[in-house]
Amino acid sequence: MFEISQRRYLGNKNSILNFIENIIKNEIGHFNSLCDIFAGTGVVGSYFNEKNNKIITNDLLYHNYISLSAFLNQDSFNQEKILELINNFNNFSAKKENYFSINFGGKYFSEDNAKKIGFIREQIRKLFIEDKINLKEKFILLTSLNYSIDRIANTVGHYDAYIKKEMKNSKFELKMLNTDIEKNKKNKIYNKDANYLIKDIECDILYLDPPYNSRQYSDAYHVLENLTLWQKPEVFGVAKKFDRNKIKSEYCKVTAIKSFEDLIINAKCKYILLSYNNMGNNGNHRSNAKISDDDILRILNLRGTPKIFEQNYKEFNAGKEKRNDNKERIFFVKVTR
Ligand SMILES: C[S@@+](CC[C@H](N)C(=O)[O-])C[C@H]1O[C@@H](n2cnc3c(N)ncnc32)[C@H](O)[C@@H]1O
Repeated sequence: MFEISQRRYLGNKNSILNFIENIIKNEIGHFNSLCDIFAGTGVVGSYFNEKNNKIITNDLLYHNYISLSAFLNQDSFNQEKILELINNFNNFSAKKENYFSINFGGKYFSEDNAKKIGFIREQIRKLFIEDKINLKEKFILLTSLNYSIDRIANTVGHYDAYIKKEMKNSKFELKMLNTDIEKNKKNKIYNKDANYLIKDIECDILYLDPPYNSRQYSDAYHVLENLTLWQKPEVFGVAKKFDRNKIKSEYCKVTAIKSFEDLIINAKCKYILLSYNNMGNNGNHRSNAKISDDDILRILNLRGTPKIFEQNYKEFNAGKEKRNDNKERIFFVKVTR
């Protein structure tokens, strides 16, 4: 089975879930609802998902919305049917070229794997159109496909580029997802710009984990976004990206400060937790933080007095653990204004 955390995703908060949990335990205690509004993989929202609370998750990217829905929404599905489909897909070998193999074969995936990926995606589309699977089952199959191919992609973990070396024809295997819909009864999942969604929701805890530099997530994950949307757009350049203008984040541009201020002003919640990296202006240009600490504190102060919690984190480099002075930080505000 695939766990929600079994995906390579830039800036995922898998390794600091305990850190977040301790802050919530010490500063808040019991809560009824938590909104993970820049959810990415959804590991944070999922970590706090319990039968009696409400978890709201949201992401601008459609393929994230699909996996958030697959793992965290309340809709029912037929597990036996999915297992049978997964088994059929895993045993299939595709011979025909398709949109995916023409554009991504021999690049991010071997020619054979790319044919199989495109074929499976087309089958999922047909199964849904012919009413053989429901929406939840479609979401589960698409997520299983994304999680399985992520493990064999010829990349360093994202799709800004592929590695130019001889391609292995590694086998990929779809699996069922580990999801418990009994826990999901109150949850809500969205695919919106956080700055629009914030006006429509209320929650006890608002967890914010926006991108902090100019690297657009729509660039880093364009292949999975393209495969999930399956609108077969024209792709460009060496990296074979589609036109992503509509899914670019304001948080990766100079507009980040304004967007953040607008988000904080409109938040209807009791507590705000913000993750924002401390790379500051130490790294190369692309990794420079878009919002300075002074601006973060000034803006959070509009709603209450911020506290900062820090934890060193380990950086993994080519399999070796390398400690440096990077710190994961959480800004915490009890909303009083
Ligand atoms: C740092 S990542 C979140 C990682 C996540 N906490 C995890 O553990 O997987 C930031 C996420 O914000 C999303 N995003 C960027 N701009 C957004 C916006 N305006 N509204 C909603 N989501 C946005 C990106 O697609 C990305 O998935």
